[in-house]
Amino acid sequence: MRACEPNDSHLNNTADGTGNSCAERTPLCAGIKKSRLGRARPSRHVSTYKTALCDRNANSPASHRRPLENMKSVAPIPVFVLLLLNCLTFDAVEGSIQCTNGDVCKIDEDTMRFFILGDFGGLPVWPYVSWAQTTVAKTISQLGDDKRTHFQLGLGDNMYYVGVTDVNDRRFKQSFEEVYQGDSMNKPWYIIAGNHDHYGNISAQVAYSQVSKRWVFPSLYYTVNYQFAQQTKVDFIMIDTIVLCGNTKDISNGDFVDVLLAGEQEPDKPKDPAVAEVQWKWIERQLQQSKADYLFVVGHYPIYSISQHGPTACLVNRLKPLLHKYHVNAYMAGHDHSIQHISTSENGATVEYLVSGAASRTDRSTKNMDKIPSGSLKFHYPSGGWFRSMFSQLGFSNGAFISAELSSSAGQFNFYDGQGDLKYGFRTLPRTKSATII
Ligand SMILES: [Fe+2]
Repeated sequence: MRACEPNDSHLNNTADGTGNSCAERTPLCAGIKKSRLGRARPSRHVSTYKTALCDRNANSPASHRRPLENMKSVAPIPVFVLLLLNCLTFDAVEGSIQCTNGDVCKIDEDTMRFFILGDFGGLPVWPYVSWAQTTVAKTISQLGDDKRTHFQLGLGDNMYYVGVTDVNDRRFKQSFEEVYQGDSMNKPWYIIAGNHDHYGNISAQVAYSQVSKRWVFPSLYYTVNYQFAQQTKVDFIMIDTIVLCGNTKDISNGDFVDVLLAGEQEPDKPKDPAVAEVQWKWIERQLQQSKADYLFVVGHYPIYSISQHGPTACLVNRLKPLLHKYHVNAYMAGHDHSIQHISTSENGATVEYLVSGAASRTDRSTKNMDKIPSGSLKFHYPSGGWFRSMFSQLGFSNGAFISAELSSSAGQFNFYDGQGDLKYGFRTLPRTKSATII
């Protein structure tokens, strides 16, 4: 396993000298630098599957290649093909994708800082962004510059309401690139898919990692690996809960009409159990193998939530026991449009559940308050009646988000409204130790 060093000659160091050279690297094409969007050239850390993927665009004669920026569309790739590529990638080129799948990025600082944002997918019609989204975007840009954050975790529902049609879909610009501006926002966004993303062309969202220098979505599930303060290791296991548990509507590569016509269902079983099983096995293998001081699992559907959608039984039954068994610090999810902190302790292991799904709309519902373990709710925001929720769900609210700062001795999670008002915070200790509310 190779670690990225800040001064590696093949890396583009950041101007702020944080040593997080990883921020400037192309995420999907291993070892490939981009001078600007979509213009890739190979460097020395290129291998196997990813090499072929990138070299096709970089080295073939112009008349013979189809650069992504000139493609009219990317043909939808079935999910099972993506998952197969996923497995091949992990087995064949482990360590070659920047900061992911075992390629550890080192931060030469005493702390590591990042934002946790879910459901930031804006609006499907003009102006393509919601009030809440622009409010959160301005705040995290400023706060990120002040705190010199290292990256963002995007918890799914990246494009409302039907994902994207292809890799050149204008929504990437309208609802993402043009919204999140500033130095801190140009750090990596580690992306997973939400149910709305799966309504559209999810393979195009993965392929967009080749176009954007900050959109990091190498495959439907993958790990993110960092090290800071010399020896403190952090692993994020990024998972696809829609593949694991099913979608809320039976649509893929659909459009807005399909969404309107399709019936709503509980995500209580996978569309393809065999494909889900492959991911379950991968998840447990990552949990077993991780030696990180902080270990996080990141998905779209929450395990526990008090809001509109509530707990996800499929995850409560199968993922939650794994989190306790392997002493995971926290499970982070979106889907419900609020910020929540829920905490459970079993067999001496405490797991924190963070819900951060309010980056472009908020939900004041507490309808599933009685569906979570008694006494486990520590905090939730916002609250209020259904009337106010009706408008805030359309994005007419401040939104909300969570920030994290980890040191070698403790991790601090802060919960903000979209204006940047600190609403709540809690502390977690490195694995095997209980969290303490402050
Ligand atoms: Fe969702």
